[in-house]
Amino acid sequence: MTHAAVIGVGSYLPEHVLTNADLARMVETSDEWIVTRTGIRERRMVGPDEMTSDLAARAGERALADANIAPEKVDLLVVGTSTPDMAFPSTACLTQAKLGLTCPAYDLNAACTGFIFALQHATAAIESGRAKTVLVIGADALTRLVDFTDRSTCVLFGDGAGAFVLQASKEQGVLGVHLGSDGHGADLLYAQTTAPVPADAFLKMNGNEVFKFAVRAIPKVTRQALRESHLTVDDVTWFVPHQANQRILDTIADRLGVPHERVVSTIERTGNTSSASIPLAIDGLYTAGNLKSGDILVLVGFGAGLTWGAAVVRWTKKEIS
Ligand code: COA
Repeated sequence: MTHAAVIGVGSYLPEHVLTNADLARMVETSDEWIVTRTGIRERRMVGPDEMTSDLAARAGERALADANIAPEKVDLLVVGTSTPDMAFPSTACLTQAKLGLTCPAYDLNAACTGFIFALQHATAAIESGRAKTVLVIGADALTRLVDFTDRSTCVLFGDGAGAFVLQASKEQGVLGVHLGSDGHGADLLYAQTTAPVPADAFLKMNGNEVFKFAVRAIPKVTRQALRESHLTVDDVTWFVPHQANQRILDTIADRLGVPHERVVSTIERTGNTSSASIPLAIDGLYTAGNLKSGDILVLVGFGAGLTWGAAVVRWTKKEIS
């Protein structure tokens, strides 16, 4: 049987830094409130002419360079995003052109769980023999949808992109993936950009309900994906959850019964970068030299939809030198 393994990783954050102090000049909030309730100190923000496809292309370029793969060798590009440049064409097509790829390219929208859904999709394409090398990107520019007069949401989100190159391999890199969706929770977190009512264009969220959903869903889907991979939480080297709130990360560590230092956190410097947060966190681990071949990672996300999903990955790349 053909398996899928990660052979390249890359990420990109836009240059402009938006600090808590900057936000405190825009809405009634404080660095103290934001840090205590979320763990976030700053986030990155796209420039006026910078689009999601620009972030995606930068992250994709770095992942391809890391894998040493030429653009024409990529068989498929899947971009997980809920902040496309345009209604159409897809952000993936725009990214494909920027990267000089020639393969089929399309978007997949599972909101903040987008990267896990895209990873599942890429793995299935490789395991079925339909593709050999797939570029999977999670890219979002949530600051474009955020209402900068709503203090309950504008402090949470940031922009960025992260990417994996997956390739057919004898070694099993992606061990198991478990996904879920429940459209009954659609009104808990949404952005109705095509609505006729302009006020609804901005992101809206019931933060308390989303928090409760996250701390219920993440431990459950993590255990499901581990069970399907014939592993337990004790086998996991790194838990890499979607970065939405430090209190969510701490709660899920407690609920899973794992030491907090095994749960990766980048939230302080990035905020919630939606579908980019998981590959961004993994690229951070990798470039810091904290990933070894054989490490077991659980990538676990949740988001609007509602959607949730976990992937168990055996890291097969060598430690960065
Ligand atoms: N600065 C200062 N005060 C703020 C504030 C801000 N940025 N945002 C909200 N508040 C106020 C509220 O108005 C409320 O005031 P009140 O008591 O006078 O009504 C108070 O702080 C408490 O609000 P509450 O919503 O109960 O805070 P919380 O501790 O639940 O934290 C979130 C709010 C949004 C940080 C938290 O619910 C959360 O992170 N939820 C999950 C969101 C998420 O992950 N979304 C993305 C999913 S992919």
